[in-house]
Amino acid sequence: MTYSISRDFPFYRGRKLRSTEFLRDSVAETKLSVEDLVMPYFIRENDDKPLIHGMPGIKRLTENELIEEIKKIKDLGVKMIAIFPKVSEKKKTTDAKEALNENNLICRVLRKVKKQIPEMITICDVALDAYTKSGHDGVLNKQGIVDNDKTIKILAKMSFLFASNDCDVIAPSDMMDGRVKVIREYLEKKKLFNTCILSYSSKFCSNFYSPFRDALGSKKNIEGSNKKTYQIDFRNRREAIKESLEDIKEGADILMVKPAGYYLDIIRDIKEKCLIPIAAYQVSGEYSMIKKTSESGIIDYKNCVLESLYCIKRSGADLIFSYFTSEAAKWLKS
Ligand code: PBG
Repeated sequence: MTYSISRDFPFYRGRKLRSTEFLRDSVAETKLSVEDLVMPYFIRENDDKPLIHGMPGIKRLTENELIEEIKKIKDLGVKMIAIFPKVSEKKKTTDAKEALNENNLICRVLRKVKKQIPEMITICDVALDAYTKSGHDGVLNKQGIVDNDKTIKILAKMSFLFASNDCDVIAPSDMMDGRVKVIREYLEKKKLFNTCILSYSSKFCSNFYSPFRDALGSKKNIEGSNKKTYQIDFRNRREAIKESLEDIKEGADILMVKPAGYYLDIIRDIKEKCLIPIAAYQVSGEYSMIKKTSESGIIDYKNCVLESLYCIKRSGADLIFSYFTSEAAKWLKS
């Protein structure tokens, strides 16, 4: 890229375009709108606890509470939600069979949401961590390692189950090899031609997921182990691009980079190299850092939240999953 160079100072004075709010708004290179934002929700059984340690302001919701929340954010202009279940501990097994139960928490909620707020776009995570005793995203083989090929068969069935309960977007977040391909083939075979696949293609093995694991009740289960044999090493950039290109070939409609804030270079790289929409997930640890620090009065809450979202957008994200969505939507509207 060639840049035209000015005759330097005083002919060039960069401050001119920064001199008033109207001017700054008019020349701002990045716009953020509520349509860019996706609200993740944690859902629970009626007899489970709402409080999530480490995520002040976010609760696990019952089916009815969720419906009320969705009605509110829909009025603010939010068009997409992602739902994550806290499966009761006694339903977690080594084979994750609750994931394929047509009356599991996710399926019940999907049916209710689609009946009451049919326009809302629903995104469901496809991974087994919410359903396994081990807290891993897949089932384990005899050596205790996640069994790739066995897991992707379950994920394909799980995707079909969610899609046939009217889930609009299937979001495999498990990082197994070939999962997008088998899910796409299975959905095609079942003639579910309109179900989108949002692939968590660049999912890094991050330490910032721990409040989320607490929300799902998988934190204790995974303790003493980690997800390094399937999630991407955070030192790698080219590997994330490679995974993204492979997932497009396998049939992904949208790609995801996760986490977001410390991974803006990856969002930019993938945006430049891929021609489909890019989502970024501002994860639970990123949420909690801003929330907790601002609660102690160290930083300003609203301004820091908006800055974090604008910067993710500036890096190239088309969609942003953020626990700040419901609040940010109010600020962006006013
Ligand atoms: C499950 C999943 C995780 C997140 C989204 N889907 C956790 C993990 O992989 O351990 C993290 C989201 C967050 O931290 O907000 N595979």
